Amino acid sequence: MSHAASSPSPSSATVPQHILVTGGAGFIGANFAHWVARNHPETHITVLDALTYAGKRENLDGIFPDQLTFVHGDICDAALVESLLDRTPSPASAASPASAQPPIDAIVHFAAESHNDNSILDASPFLKTNVTGTYVLLEAARRHDLRFHHISTDEVYGDLALDDPHKFTERSPYNPSSPYSASKAASDHLVRAWHRTYGLRATISNCSNNYGPYQHVEKFIPRQITNILAGIRPKLYGQGLAVRDWINVEDHCSAIWTILVRGRIGETYLVGANGEHSNIDVLRMILEHMGRSPDDFDHVNDRPGGDVRYAIDATKIETELGWHPRFTDFSAGLDRTIDWYRTHQDWWMPDKMATEEKYRRQGH
Ligand code: NAD
Ligand code: DAU
Repeated sequence: MSHAASSPSPSSATVPQHILVTGGAGFIGANFAHWVARNHPETHITVLDALTYAGKRENLDGIFPDQLTFVHGDICDAALVESLLDRTPSPASAASPASAQPPIDAIVHFAAESHNDNSILDASPFLKTNVTGTYVLLEAARRHDLRFHHISTDEVYGDLALDDPHKFTERSPYNPSSPYSASKAASDHLVRAWHRTYGLRATISNCSNNYGPYQHVEKFIPRQITNILAGIRPKLYGQGLAVRDWINVEDHCSAIWTILVRGRIGETYLVGANGEHSNIDVLRMILEHMGRSPDDFDHVNDRPGGDVRYAIDATKIETELGWHPRFTDFSAGLDRTIDWYRTHQDWWMPDKMATEEKYRRQGH
């Protein structure tokens, strides 16, 4: 979103005192809250999360309670969002737990409906949360002149052919394929418009596929690991030739913080870790790590309109902001992720059967 209003060079580091993390009870948002708690104990975190099927309050367990305020609510609820940002002392806010904290000075916006297969079944919650919800937050950020970082996806760029020598860059044209990625593309455009029209101090990051702890069992890697743990055969869409560019969620979290603190206002940064693997290769790695035969899986229906390949060129964030991924050993990261699901069966088991039933009805 380069424009005249962009800063000419990376801003000097401004560490926020109090961040509003939307969707902080979901996979990446919770990992980010833990990352901030570990690395920046001086920053207070307010999580606003609707606790949909994808969010769990317990994902934030372990964060020192003095550093965290949890608010159960919807980003589309403009009055609620306003009440969190309002700095005017009132009897109600004086009584609220957030009142002891400095005012919120930045919004880090993760909250979304995030799963492509769900968006194919019913796009309406995607339009509501991803588009209208982002609009509500942008308006609130504009009123209060807050720093705004929008978490987006590489899927807004569509897909690449398997043999394309190019990767996505910040200059790639928008070409989303699914209702999910179209709704994320819409939200990116809103953020750019609010920056250009109103001067909102916004940045955007578009990241590739994350893996790690707290990821819902509907997603590819956790689904296969938990299938094996639950005695269900893993399920591969089509021939499994589609390629995803995997990044450890810890690296995504450090990239977000880097952009939040030092990113140029008005800019977009692509985030990736050179982790391209075909789905069948990833599944075979999981099977091998879990002591199974490499052919111990079922082929199931492919995703209608499924994207073939994503690949990120992260040169801009690396050269401009000095960010580099640290957890680039995918095999070791997969091992740690398998261990996490093995030792957290109470966390994923309650969602497993309903998720598999939904997939069964979709032929997946
Ligand atoms: P997730 O589905 O695990 O979590 C989403 C969270 O948002 C949940 O806690 C849910 O309760 C909350 N939420 C949903 N609707 C809400 C609403 N209306 N109000 C408040 N909270 C609401 O998603 P994720 O995988 O952690 O993705 C987080 C963000 O990162 C999304 O914006 C997604 O587009 C983006 N992203 C994800 C990936 C990935 O690989 N998972 C990659 C790039 C970008
Ligand atoms: O690229 C970033 C995106 O990555 C994020 O924006 C999305 O929020 C996130 O869900 C993810 O989207 P994908 O559609 O790439 O991820 P998913 O885990 O759903 O699927 C990854 C690939 O694996 C895809 O080609 C479909 C395939 N797949 C998926 C499932 C659930 C299977 O082969 N079997 C499965 O059981």
